Amino acid sequence: TALDNGLAHLAGQKIVITAGGTREPIDPVRFLTNRSSGKMGYALAEAANTAGADVTLIATVQRDCSANINVRIAESAEAMLQAVQEEMVDTNVFISAAAVSDYRLKEPFTDKVKKQGDDDGLTLNLVQNPDILKTVGMAKKPGQIVVGFAAETKDLLANAKAKLSKKNADMIVGNDVTKAGAGFDQDTNVVTMVRPEQDPVEEGPASKLNIAKAILNQVVKIQEMQ
Ligand code: CTP
Ligand code: CA
Repeated sequence: TALDNGLAHLAGQKIVITAGGTREPIDPVRFLTNRSSGKMGYALAEAANTAGADVTLIATVQRDCSANINVRIAESAEAMLQAVQEEMVDTNVFISAAAVSDYRLKEPFTDKVKKQGDDDGLTLNLVQNPDILKTVGMAKKPGQIVVGFAAETKDLLANAKAKLSKKNADMIVGNDVTKAGAGFDQDTNVVTMVRPEQDPVEEGPASKLNIAKAILNQVVKIQEMQ
């Protein structure tokens, strides 16, 4: 299709994608996480791989994927940031599809937490995680393209635009997770792609693979404008 033809532009480029919900340790057997399945990130990796790109997928979870996708498992936000920074040096395109936990435990317990006394609750002390997309966006070199997501339950366009500038990204892919055919652990998505000084582009409801192709198509457009 026309969409696939345009993606040939990505052949030979290095593309780094993050996927999945991060897991922030509570103790050796428990963690804080979210509803992200990693499917959107894996779909992006497949679409980029099919286009002939050199793909590194930094994921919190292992899923079936093509053998020539370089999968690195990083569970926590801090581990993911470390892995992303190791890869960025020679990367053309970074896509932050992971649902990164905004918070982690200030001090994870070294031993398994025991149930407290009968009437006692348990308070966990949280601190903010590093913002991977913002860190990469602020450090990007000329020619590097940085794309983020924004999963919202309201004010999608305004929130996506705010994230675009706050994180110095080239595009934010907004999705309204309350919409039918969007949201977590589904095989379809509905997105609004927001770029600086451009009209938003809507795509879907469509399979996550077709949404991935539409996102990469916008990446090529950004590259062709530079
Ligand atoms: N992101 C990230 N590191 C974080 C938090 C978010 O890299 N610590 C990335 C996500 O991968 C996504 C984008 O930033 O591409 C937006 O994530 P989102 O949670 O929507 O935005 P936040 O800036 O965390 O704002 P909030 O959760 O308050 O809406
Ligand atoms: Ca967040």
